[in-house]
Amino acid sequence: MSTNTIDIPKKVTTSTVAKMKQAGEKIAMITAYDYTMASLVDAAGIDLILVGDSAANVMAGYGSTLPITLDQMIYHAQCVTRGAQRAMVIVDMPFGTYQGNPDEALRSAVRIMKESGASAVKLEGGREVKESVERILSAGIPVMAHLGLTPQSVNKFGGYGIRAKGDAEAQKLMEDALMLQELGCFSLVLEKIPAPLAARVSQELAIPTIGIGAGSGTDGQVLVLQDMLGMNSGFRPKFLRLYANLAETIDNAVKNYISDVKTLAFPSADESY
Ligand code: KIV
Repeated sequence: MSTNTIDIPKKVTTSTVAKMKQAGEKIAMITAYDYTMASLVDAAGIDLILVGDSAANVMAGYGSTLPITLDQMIYHAQCVTRGAQRAMVIVDMPFGTYQGNPDEALRSAVRIMKESGASAVKLEGGREVKESVERILSAGIPVMAHLGLTPQSVNKFGGYGIRAKGDAEAQKLMEDALMLQELGCFSLVLEKIPAPLAARVSQELAIPTIGIGAGSGTDGQVLVLQDMLGMNSGFRPKFLRLYANLAETIDNAVKNYISDVKTLAFPSADESY
């Protein structure tokens, strides 16, 4: 277990995470979509906050990440940046705002940066989005890449299963990772791939990798906040560790409130003016 720590400045930046990788200090990333949660995870000392397009699932209740719009992502990002004092905020580019059209990719990324005050964008894919990544980077916008299970391609994959189990897909993933580093991406998310492959990619790359369902050999980890807080009892993949059971806590609290209201136990005289 690495116990290395670097002197983290007031605000985490791309150069902070590069130094953390060099020092062997693991990077902790978590998602957030609103001011209150962003303030709480920032105060707890999280390094990176991802305004994930998983907002489509956990905030809006959609069955996939595809429906969320650029305007909606910018709204979530604005809420998060107001709550994050120290953590670096990275915003997912939603489906349809960067694939296949580098001009549109740049316009979308510029809107995210200008309107939300975030520090970087994240997008999914390798060689298929090379030109878009180049164009965004050319404007001085840091890019976090994302390979392996890329949920915006769920319809192509036919589900959310583990990726790159075979040699050909593993080889393509390694080539894409090296290409994304060469282009200038500052980090790479590896989602739901075999742990030995994620460890190999992490050793090959100089930029930090952040894993989710990719084992312990990556340079950092990311989880969806509502999932790790146990707010979503219907989602229990093998890679998810529960750090709280907020579904139960909220259920008990709301049931107690309902009962107090119905029995006139709330409000008391002390709680009245
Ligand atoms: O949208 C998201 O939350 C993500 C993480 C799971 C990496 O992309």
